Amino acid sequence: MNLSDNALKVLEKRYLGKDEAGVVRENPEQMFRRIADAIASSNSQSSEREFLAEEYYRFMASLDFLPNSPTIMNAGRPLGQLSACFVLPVGDSMPEIFDTVKATALIHQTGGGTGFSFSRLRPKGAVVRSTGGQASGPVSFMKVINASTDAIKQGGTRRGANMGILRVDHPDILEFIDCKMDLTQVTNFNISVAITDVFMQAVKEDGEYDLIAPHNGEVVGRLRAREVFDKIAHNAWANGEPGLFFIDTANRANPTPSRWTYEATNPCGEQVLGPYESCNLGSINLERHVRSSATGKPEVDWERLGRSVYLAVRFLDNVVDANRFPIPELAAVNQGTRRIGLGIMGFARLLMRLEIPYDSEEGLEMAEKVMSFIRDEAERTSQDLAKVHGPFPYYEGIGTRKRNSHLLTIAPTGTISMIADTSSGCEPEFSIIWYKNVMDGTHLPYTLEMFEIVARREGFWSDGLAEKIVQNHGSCRGLSEVPEKWQKVFATAHDIAPRWHVRMQAAFQKYIDAAVSKTINLPQEATVEDVEDAYLLSFELGCKGITVYRDGSRHNQVLNLGTNA
Ligand code: CDP
Repeated sequence: MNLSDNALKVLEKRYLGKDEAGVVRENPEQMFRRIADAIASSNSQSSEREFLAEEYYRFMASLDFLPNSPTIMNAGRPLGQLSACFVLPVGDSMPEIFDTVKATALIHQTGGGTGFSFSRLRPKGAVVRSTGGQASGPVSFMKVINASTDAIKQGGTRRGANMGILRVDHPDILEFIDCKMDLTQVTNFNISVAITDVFMQAVKEDGEYDLIAPHNGEVVGRLRAREVFDKIAHNAWANGEPGLFFIDTANRANPTPSRWTYEATNPCGEQVLGPYESCNLGSINLERHVRSSATGKPEVDWERLGRSVYLAVRFLDNVVDANRFPIPELAAVNQGTRRIGLGIMGFARLLMRLEIPYDSEEGLEMAEKVMSFIRDEAERTSQDLAKVHGPFPYYEGIGTRKRNSHLLTIAPTGTISMIADTSSGCEPEFSIIWYKNVMDGTHLPYTLEMFEIVARREGFWSDGLAEKIVQNHGSCRGLSEVPEKWQKVFATAHDIAPRWHVRMQAAFQKYIDAAVSKTINLPQEATVEDVEDAYLLSFELGCKGITVYRDGSRHNQVLNLGTNA
């Protein structure tokens, strides 16, 4: 098996089976067998089970495809919880809030991440009838979940991740927007503001909008939309949070509107989920779907990609049945929607192989071509499955009759892209040379092999080049010894203007029924207006949300360039 040293390190640390003394008792082959057997066992016919177990094994062992971390860790093991993403409801009463705290703890123990909307909670200072006291408001309950997350630590596997969402028309919105300005607070949460169409219209017209108390529907105040918009953009400029969640855009794509309205997303934003809904993800490694054409030029191997999409949908649909949940509500809803999240990783590497710059019209076209192809194949597979097994039980006649309510997403692939040794999700490479700070402070070095191969082949490699790239913010753009063509092809996240980042996210979103996890990188010298530009463009282009990150704005960046890690 072709695993890199870094991949082995990651696997040993968290994924391979260990005995009670913590000694690794499983090798990567055994790990992939364990997963393949457990997932294929949800098929009823034994011949199909055996056939698919073998196919699934090869699919993963070749690194053509990997499921999300919980599937790798828990398939065929006692926990058996296989999904990365959950949304839990937060009701406006003590019993409901603390039921959610408990469910959160149980999900975190299995390696899942949880998202919450706090929008139904009455604002701070509102009367609590049973006690005659005053409510402490959404932010105070976020802090409760945050403390409980600290205590759990996900059973030593990974730290619990949460998403906290508040509607922009909630009376406590200003406190919420500021709740992470003190970086020692609510550290286990990402936060996003749920932005309505009404609010965006008010921003455009420089008007005011109403603040509404959710428990009684009363209008309790008005704010100038631009002031709120500026405040969000300012905070995101300062430290990356909050993000935006375009809640009305998300609900326009809801296939089960009689069942629920979407209020929240999972921690990284790629899944907008109903209450108690979950999603199991898997990503196809695009770097492994390139072949040499008749003329010797690299091209996408469409045939192989089609086969991979088919197999991935079968795999993820089987995960729905193999999954074990810590509370019964989760199991019921998961069977109701049979939602799966097929995505990609290695997109930036694919572009480099095809010699296409990320920030170019051609790059956008390739994104659309690949994603529309994946969508068509995935749709076909899910529709065929529905012919045999029926559509997902919550099907309301909206959209095609298929087996799964949702099929596609783009996850960050933070860990699985390290196992596959490729670029993450649909993101550009962060740098050509870098170190990654992961898991209790280990530094994993990465050099982009493809760059060195090209540089040697094209004759622009020199001993000092790597150091020059490190000094140049990890990029080869602007270095006179690198021919312009290759400066463009080897684009890094910081070379790419924010508008190109947004356009790329939107290009993928066009073909995706769930959502896209992407960071819009901004250079250190970017302004608050640049952040606002990116917000407006992403809304206009139909994105379901946006997260920006200005270089250097947070002290402890996960990704660090060059040798300063
Ligand atoms: O690569 P991996 O399968 O580990 O995960 P990812 O693609 O980086 O993240 C997918 C989802 O897993 C995120 O959107 C979160 O919902 C969840 N997650 C989490 O709960 N805790 C983490 N430390 C990382 C991800």
